[in-house]
Amino acid sequence: MRKTILCLMAMMGVLTLSAQSVYENEVINTIMARRSVRKYLDKPVEHKKLEAIVRCGINAPSAMNRQPWIIRVVEDQKLIADVTEVYKRENAEQVARDKDFKNMFRNAPNLICVCTPANGGGELDAGLLGENMMLTAQSLGLGTCCLQGPVRFLLTNEKAKFFLDRLDIPADYRLLYIIAVGYPNEKPDARPRDASKVKYITGNAEKQNDGNDRIFVDYEENALFPGGEKACMKWLAEHIKYPKDCLKKKIEGRVTVSFIIKEDGYVTDVKAIKSPHPSLAKEAVRVVSEMPRWKPARNHNKTIRSRVNLPIIFKIPQNTTKKPKK
Ligand SMILES: Cc1cc2nc3c(=O)[nH]c(=O)nc-3n(C[C@H](O)[C@H](O)[C@H](O)COP(=O)(O)O)c2cc1C
Repeated sequence: MRKTILCLMAMMGVLTLSAQSVYENEVINTIMARRSVRKYLDKPVEHKKLEAIVRCGINAPSAMNRQPWIIRVVEDQKLIADVTEVYKRENAEQVARDKDFKNMFRNAPNLICVCTPANGGGELDAGLLGENMMLTAQSLGLGTCCLQGPVRFLLTNEKAKFFLDRLDIPADYRLLYIIAVGYPNEKPDARPRDASKVKYITGNAEKQNDGNDRIFVDYEENALFPGGEKACMKWLAEHIKYPKDCLKKKIEGRVTVSFIIKEDGYVTDVKAIKSPHPSLAKEAVRVVSEMPRWKPARNHNKTIRSRVNLPIIFKIPQNTTKKPKK
């Protein structure tokens, strides 16, 4: 059994332990770093960059490749200033309260206006297009903010009609949303995401989230097992008991255990999200549930809840049946 455990430890050494390793990827980094930006430098975005953003946008999938949208890119600063004057007259008090107010599009120097068929449909395709554009902008060092508020104003205010006229939107299309884009002049905090809304359907009997877990998925300092990764592997190797039925049937494989490290460092909400056999899943969940207190993840100098995905490989060494030499 000792050899089994050692083998388990060695195999785990090949793998990294936390969600961190999964996040070491440029696309994922871009996705996780994106925030809605509402303060921008007075510097219009270069035309080439806007072109790249839109090209990546229209590379998004659309149902039956229908591409049921049209896009208008506003680079005319005067047009933005003129329609903002109308907005300011209609919303004087609100504008006066905002000391950073530059324009009605969350102060961005450029706009990408996305339109869909006037009689409905295409919104899903238009949404996918938009996220592609926001992520491309992020990767180019730009900030964005998806906007629907200003669209309501533009569609309902007669005095702002000249703005829509300039966009030259065909009669059978309507403006759905706008992406504000520019060089960011702020670094907004990550807003929390509610991971309890996600459920993995794995085939194993699972404990459901209590619905109260609001966890961050993006943080500056990951949760850490006391003593670090190696100590974690050692602890697991010492505490895992290879399930007898799996040992007998020679069932091996990787179990991915997902759990939350709470603000106080305690482990909670442990579940196996992938496993070759229920007994391996059960054992992995048992042992992780009994782990000592971790150092919790931190973001902006605060301890926060974070989810850790831990792969544990169960492997039976070839020679477990041989007696060890004295
Ligand atoms: C469909 C949609 C409409 C939005 N409309 C506005 C808006 O009118 N004004 C605004 O400031 N932010 C708007 N937002 C941005 C959201 O407030 C923002 O995405 C959300 O608070 C999460 O923050 P994050 O983008 O920084 O992660 C909108 C986002 C979406 C997806």
